[in-house]
Amino acid sequence: SWTTGNVIDEQVTAIQAQVGTKRAICGLSGGVDSAVAAALVQKAIGSQLTCVYVDHGLMRKGETEQVEKDFVAATGVQLKVVDAQERFLAALAGVSDPEEKRKIIGREFIRVFEQAQAEIVAEAPGDQPVEFLVQGTLYPDVVESGGGTGTANIKSHHNVGGLPEDLEFQLIEPLRKLFKDEVRMVGQELGLPDEIVQRQPFPGPGLGIRIVGEVTRDRLDLLREADAIAREELTAAGLDREIWQCPVVLLADVRSVGVQGDGRTYGHPIVLRPVSSEDAMTADWSRLPYEVLAKISTRITNEVADVNRVVLDVTSKPPGTIEWE
Ligand code: XMP
Repeated sequence: SWTTGNVIDEQVTAIQAQVGTKRAICGLSGGVDSAVAAALVQKAIGSQLTCVYVDHGLMRKGETEQVEKDFVAATGVQLKVVDAQERFLAALAGVSDPEEKRKIIGREFIRVFEQAQAEIVAEAPGDQPVEFLVQGTLYPDVVESGGGTGTANIKSHHNVGGLPEDLEFQLIEPLRKLFKDEVRMVGQELGLPDEIVQRQPFPGPGLGIRIVGEVTRDRLDLLREADAIAREELTAAGLDREIWQCPVVLLADVRSVGVQGDGRTYGHPIVLRPVSSEDAMTADWSRLPYEVLAKISTRITNEVADVNRVVLDVTSKPPGTIEWE
């Protein structure tokens, strides 16, 4: 029967058999899935694992610092932080198509992991080779990327359908059969703190798939501000556990007319996409209190330059997906 203890024991044995005395790296994203996958693999192979955090510049405010602080404190894992902002921005320049963005981000992740692999080997040359890449892929990621049986490809999750074909790593994906609530239970059992285990989902491609249009540094900065305000107000209202997640989306190619003071504005809309869900396979839009929505709207339009409108997405999944891209 299914218990978190069984899942952990089974995976630890399987990972030890797969890796032997070789080494592995694990991409950490700041999210629940990669954190739990890393903790599980660490339990199996200890210091043969190095975690790699790729700062691709598509992160939310404060996220990089949080990973460095929370996760390392909780697990004591070896962490390598790679600043890859320029690289991702350059690769995404001129690209607006959602699937193309996802593929580029998935590919660049792997290129950065390969570079990290070479550096780890160079730092400890006599040691065993780094042949394995750990990913926090969940069952829904596999299904929705078309990896299940008889399912259509809805979107290429960066760590499934977005992988390059010339991948040289062998993958370790200990959460591939689990749903999010099960992953949270496994994380808890492994002793990870609530700040990690109860964190709301955030996609690996980050804000890159929350800008409808081309991804640029200015747009990322703008969206980061709007997102930070929305998160701050939702937390202040005590709604973090009630909502599954709330993507904040910038419609970068849309402009509308507004008025501020005596002047005309011609700015961009920000979309709020709060949803409730059990497993992200289906979702409903959250009925947030009007006062909270009002506060978020007022603050975003006052505090974020070039945004003059805030709109609420009231679509369930299906027919909408949770993310806009
Ligand atoms: P959708 O938009 O497909 O999202 O309804 C379902 C859940 O998956 C998250 N998501 C991703 N997570 N890599 C991830 O790690 C991805 O490429 C990706 N795309 C979507 C999304 O935030 C939601 O929780």
